[in-house]
Amino acid sequence: MGRVATLVGVAVALSLTAALVLPEVAAVRYMVGAGLGNGWTQGLNYTNWTRDKHFYNGDWLFFVYDRNQLSVLEVNETNYESCNSDHPLVNWTRGAGRDVVPLNVTRPYYFISGNGFCFGGAKLAVKVENPPPPPVASPEKSGSPASFYHGRVVLPAVFAVGAMWDAFLRFC
Ligand SMILES: *[C@@H]1O[C@H](CO)[C@@H](O)[C@H](O)[C@H]1NC(C)=O
Ligand SMILES: *[C@@H]1O[C@H](CO)[C@@H](O)[C@H](O)[C@H]1NC(C)=O
Ligand SMILES: *[C@@H]1O[C@H](CO)[C@@H](O)[C@H](O)[C@H]1NC(C)=O
Ligand SMILES: *[C@@H]1O[C@H](CO)[C@@H](O)[C@H](O)[C@H]1NC(C)=O
Ligand SMILES: *[C@@H]1O[C@H](CO)[C@@H](O)[C@H](O)[C@H]1NC(C)=O
Repeated sequence: MGRVATLVGVAVALSLTAALVLPEVAAVRYMVGAGLGNGWTQGLNYTNWTRDKHFYNGDWLFFVYDRNQLSVLEVNETNYESCNSDHPLVNWTRGAGRDVVPLNVTRPYYFISGNGFCFGGAKLAVKVENPPPPPVASPEKSGSPASFYHGRVVLPAVFAVGAMWDAFLRFC
């Protein structure tokens, strides 16, 4: 009996801890060009795609594209502007046409495609910021747990808390 009570106590404490760190957990994986067109391609304007977004340290970019044509090269600002793919800082191309790039440093990032597609618009600049501070608890606004935080879906973290509960209940 006492053991079960202790375990429940630990579970509650862990859940509360998870709830407190929730904003940090809620990293976002952006599919490049989602809502604009066909992922990473030409003929789109990725400046328009980034306009209503904030990219935070810990987020990811997911490039989906025709692997026989495009590539994902991280370059510096000069080579981004001029579409020069001769001096990539990082070649993120892995060959499957589905590359994930971690935005794990607070700085601007510049990406272009090789093979001339940059000139057709396959170029992306994102400014990575520090995550905003956790929201201040406001009693008036308490309500739905499946809430949005600065437009970032926090549901994954909610699921994580749920999974933890599950694990503890099973253990008990
Ligand atoms: C994309 O649109 C922005 C304005 O939103 C403009 O400044 C920029 O030149 C455009 N880029 C291309 C490649 O058309
Ligand atoms: C980008 O946005 C600008 C300004 O809103 C618009 O004129 C332009 O047509 C857009 N470009 C694309 C490719 O959607
Ligand atoms: C980018 O790299 C090129 C060499 O590939 C260099 O000439 C240029 O000065 C660099 N630009 C910046 C902004 O670092
Ligand atoms: C980038 O890597 C891919 C896959 O390894 C390779 O095919 C391609 O030539 C590389 N591009 C550059 C510019 O280094
Ligand atoms: C960022 O991610 C890259 C690729 O996974 C890794 O090589 C690099 O060490 C990471 N940098 C930091 C500051 O975590």
